[in-house]
Amino acid sequence: MSHVAATVPIQGLGRELVQNLFVALRSAQLYDARNDTLRAAAERFARTLEELQLVDRSARLEVGGDLILVNDVRIRSELRSYSVHANLLRFFREMGIGGFEWETAPDVGEAARFVSVVGRMELEDEDDDPVFRLRQRLVDEGLGGTRVLEPREEEADTLLDDPDKRRRAEKTYRHTVAVTRQLMESLRAGHTLRLTRVRRAVQSIVDQVFDDESLLVGLTNLRDYDEPTFTHSVNVCIFAVSLGQRIGLSRLELYELGMCGLLHDLGKVDVPREVLLKSEALTDDEWEAMQRHPAYGVWRIMAGRTKGRVPAREMLAAFEHHLNVDLSGYPAIRHPRRLSLYSRIVAICDSFDAGTTPRVYKTDPITPAEMLQALERWKGVRYDPILIKAFVSLLGIYPPGCVALLDTQEIGVVLAVDPDPRNINRPRVKIVVDSDGLHIDGPIVSLAERTPDGDFARTVIKVLEPERYGIDSARYFLAG
Ligand SMILES: [Fe+2]
Ligand SMILES: [Fe+2]
Repeated sequence: MSHVAATVPIQGLGRELVQNLFVALRSAQLYDARNDTLRAAAERFARTLEELQLVDRSARLEVGGDLILVNDVRIRSELRSYSVHANLLRFFREMGIGGFEWETAPDVGEAARFVSVVGRMELEDEDDDPVFRLRQRLVDEGLGGTRVLEPREEEADTLLDDPDKRRRAEKTYRHTVAVTRQLMESLRAGHTLRLTRVRRAVQSIVDQVFDDESLLVGLTNLRDYDEPTFTHSVNVCIFAVSLGQRIGLSRLELYELGMCGLLHDLGKVDVPREVLLKSEALTDDEWEAMQRHPAYGVWRIMAGRTKGRVPAREMLAAFEHHLNVDLSGYPAIRHPRRLSLYSRIVAICDSFDAGTTPRVYKTDPITPAEMLQALERWKGVRYDPILIKAFVSLLGIYPPGCVALLDTQEIGVVLAVDPDPRNINRPRVKIVVDSDGLHIDGPIVSLAERTPDGDFARTVIKVLEPERYGIDSARYFLAG
C-alpha cells in the first residue's frame, strides 16, 4: 500500500488510538486491572492497535514537541478531541517518555496490564531514567513486546549544531520555553523538581548570548498568551544573562544568574492557576496568595536540592526579586539587608518583562520604551541605578520590538541597539510601513546612517502601539 493511500485510514485510526489510549490510561488510574470499566477501555484500545497493524503492519505512537504521530502520520486534533490530545501530550511530557511501539497487538488482559503499569508510573528523583524503568516494568509484566521510545524533543546540545544563527537562537528560545513548561507542569502534578534539562537549556542561553546577544533579546518579544509564566521566566533569564555579560560577569556566574532568572517565579506553581491567569484585578485574598510566591519558590528550590550543591543564589533571588533596593516591596522583611547582586538584576529584568507583556485588562499597553523610562524614574528607590544604566545600554532608548514612527513618515520595528554607545537612540530598524502608509517588507536600516550632507537619514519621532497599526513585531525576530 502506498504511503499516501495509507494516510487516510491512519489519520482516523490514529485519532481513535489517541482517544482510546487516553481513556484507558485514565481508567487505569482509577480502577484495578480486573475492573469492568477498565477492561472495556482496554479492549477498545487493543482493538484499535489490531486494526492499525492490519492496515499498516505496525503500530507506533510518538510525541514530539506539540505533535502526536501515529505510524509517522501527524494526528490532527479536532475541536472536540482537543483536551484529550493536550492531556495525552502533557502526560508523556511529564513522564519523560517519547512514545510506544507495539510489535504485536496485545489481547485484552495484556492491554489492561499495559495501561495499569503506564498509567500508574510515578516519577522519581532527578537522576531517574524513566524510559529504562518503564521498559523494565513492562518486561516484568510479560509485556516485553512493547517498546518504550525515548523523548524525541531536541536536547540542548544538538541545538547549537544549526549553522544558521537566527534559527539556532529561535530553537534555543523555544526549547527553553518547552523545558520550563515541562518543569512547572510536572511540579504542579506533584513530581519532584528535576533540573537536568533546565541546566542544559540555561547553558545554551549563555552560549548564545556570548555568540550574539541581540538575537535572543529580540525573541523575548514572542509571547505565550495561554500561560505567560513560561515565556516570562525564559525572558527574564535572557535579559539577566545579557545584562550580566554587560557588567563583565564570568561564564560560570552568567550560568548561575541565568538559573536565578529562570527559576525566580518557580513558586507560582503553588499559586492557584485561576489567580495567575485572572484578567481582572485581584481580590485581597488572591493578592495575598500571589505575594507568597517568593517564599514558595525558596521551598521549591530547596526541596529539589541536588547532591553536592545548595542552590543558595537561586533561593535568594526567588525570595528577593519583589523587594526594592529601599527594602519596600514584598515579602516584608524585619532586618535591613543589602539585596544580592543577582536579585537586583533579576528584579529589573522581571519588572521590564512583566510591564511590557500585554494583558487583557490593560487598556493602555505600555511600550517597551515607556517601560524603560519608568524603570529609570525608580532608580535608587526600587532599582540599583548602576544596573539600570547597564540595562538601558543593553536595550537602547528604543528596545528591540518597539514600533517607531520615523521622520520620513515610515514605520519601523526596532531589531537591535546600535553597538556604538553614542547611538543609544539610533537602533537598527526594519521598515514595515512606507511613507504612503502601505505595509511593506522593507529594508533593514541603521538609524545611525547619514545622508551625503551629514544629516541623519532617519530619526525616531514617536513610539507607536503596534496593535493599533496591525503590526506583529515578534515575527520579525523569527528565522526564515
Ligand atoms: Fe515574581
Ligand atoms: Fe517574574
